[in-house]
Amino acid sequence: MSVVPSAGNGKITVPGILERKSTGSAKNSSSAKITCLTAYDYPTARLLDEAGVDVLLVGDSLAMVVLGYESTLPVTLEAMLHHARAVRRGTRRALLVVDMPYGSYHNDAAEAVRNAVRFVKEAGAEAVKIEGGERRMDLITRLVDAEVPVMGHIGLTPQSVNAFGGFRVQGKTEEAGEQLLRDARAVEAAGAFSIVLESIPRELAARISAEVKIPTIGIGAGPDCDGQILVIHDLLGMTFGHKPKFSRQYANVGEIISRAVAEYCHDVQQGNFPSDDESYHLSAEQRAILLAARR
Ligand code: KIV
Repeated sequence: MSVVPSAGNGKITVPGILERKSTGSAKNSSSAKITCLTAYDYPTARLLDEAGVDVLLVGDSLAMVVLGYESTLPVTLEAMLHHARAVRRGTRRALLVVDMPYGSYHNDAAEAVRNAVRFVKEAGAEAVKIEGGERRMDLITRLVDAEVPVMGHIGLTPQSVNAFGGFRVQGKTEEAGEQLLRDARAVEAAGAFSIVLESIPRELAARISAEVKIPTIGIGAGPDCDGQILVIHDLLGMTFGHKPKFSRQYANVGEIISRAVAEYCHDVQQGNFPSDDESYHLSAEQRAILLAARR
């Protein structure tokens, strides 16, 4: 199920990501910014992996951009496993990280470790991502002890949408900024190999990135993080409704799909699809038998 790294095969690994921590001045390839995108299915994973993306995250944003829910809260462990397996089959080079969904690590630590191990054993995940800072320290330590590498996630943690009262930029006051710094330090101290900073002021993300020794991966956190992540559907123009200002759209695949489907419907209705060339044919002998039987 997994792709095992061996020396020189170009596979992105957890230690390899740690080594990519920006040095600030060095411009060699090992300090290049880390590229991350979400993926939820086999063809997308293949395309992103072959395009050279470093980290593929099976995000619980699956709930919103693929399954049509209004938040990430409803997505289940089984659904995450199902999509993670598909992404695994399409991924060879990138590091595969899977989000632990809401409720899968909030009860007791033993259950959380069991669930994380399922992602590794049953879906070939190379790491899991969990949301939260200081209050996740013990859990991150337990997961790392169980040989499950952990990516942290602080700032606007979407699983806290009810507690936050909506999807809002975090860390805007001095006190909130200090708390996020403590959260980042805690996630690092607990043994996480990287940390997502979501929707926080650029200045705060820069300070956190300068302080912690693990790579920071920004989404709505400005350009000073060690890497960036976007939701693939946002990047491709396949989402509906509100678009956060950080989610740059690189293509309008939604429009391409709409145009192609309208053209297909038109061709079917006009009898222009399928053509004779797009049809299978009998041999001359079989055709003669068929025609004779009709008479
Ligand atoms: O679920 C997700 O897609 C995420 C990223 C946006 C960081 O958590």
